[in-house]
Amino acid sequence: MSHTISNYSQLIDMDKLPQHIAIIMDGNGRWAKKRFMPRTFGHRAGMSSLKQVVETCSELGISCLTVFAFSTENWKRPHDEISYLMSLLVEYINKELKELHQNGIHIKVLGDYRNLPPASVQAIDKAVQKTAANQGMVLNIAINYGARDEIIKAVQQIATQVKQGQLEPEDINEYHFKRFLYTAGLPDPDLLIRTAGEMRISNFLLWQIAYAELWFSPVMWPEFNREELLKAIWEFQQRDRRFGGLNVDGQGDSYA
Ligand code: FPP
Repeated sequence: MSHTISNYSQLIDMDKLPQHIAIIMDGNGRWAKKRFMPRTFGHRAGMSSLKQVVETCSELGISCLTVFAFSTENWKRPHDEISYLMSLLVEYINKELKELHQNGIHIKVLGDYRNLPPASVQAIDKAVQKTAANQGMVLNIAINYGARDEIIKAVQQIATQVKQGQLEPEDINEYHFKRFLYTAGLPDPDLLIRTAGEMRISNFLLWQIAYAELWFSPVMWPEFNREELLKAIWEFQQRDRRFGGLNVDGQGDSYA
């Protein structure tokens, strides 16, 4: 039934917005292939979708948006495609940074980006530094990011603290652990969106999405727009989130 509803902006409850939305932007390649165009054409179109989604989230007052731009596994792609994605990141920052900054957006990076091409590292550093004091929406760009890698890095840091006698193993708990993740200090995603019909998590934010609502859209990322985002938010607002407890009617389920 929900698919027949249009103009979701009138249906959204502005008092029940997700605080943090995470997005796996999938389907650029398939979208391009269907148009007999190279995959890079799809990535470029995907950049426009990203712009629209960032603007919409910021306008709505979402406090945090995390997008999966490049995974630790994406290095397996052809060299030319990797180079194109890296240059697209630089282009995105060069084109959008001024406006993002004017809108108070605080750019952060999830992932170990230091080994990216120098131009990408410079662009990221510029964006992160320029927007560091901004108080608006946090835009996390996950780049060279993998959740297992993130968790291992956290474990290594905690093990070092234990080894140096700064921490007792029994003092390690969830609250301590998450301070070592790239998302330290940020709320966990309430809503995880994946486009292009795949129903996988693909090593994205494994720790952080423990209680996230999942929304899998059939729409290819280059066609994902403001209305599709609003639809995802509306679907999120129809869910009954219990976090392992009971809802207002005293109903629970096995796990959460
Ligand atoms: C997945 O589509 C998309 C990516 C791996 C990259 C995401 C990049 C963008 C949205 C463009 C903007 C980028 C930056 C860096 C600002 P896919 O290639 O896996 O699509 P497929 O599954 O159809 O092949």
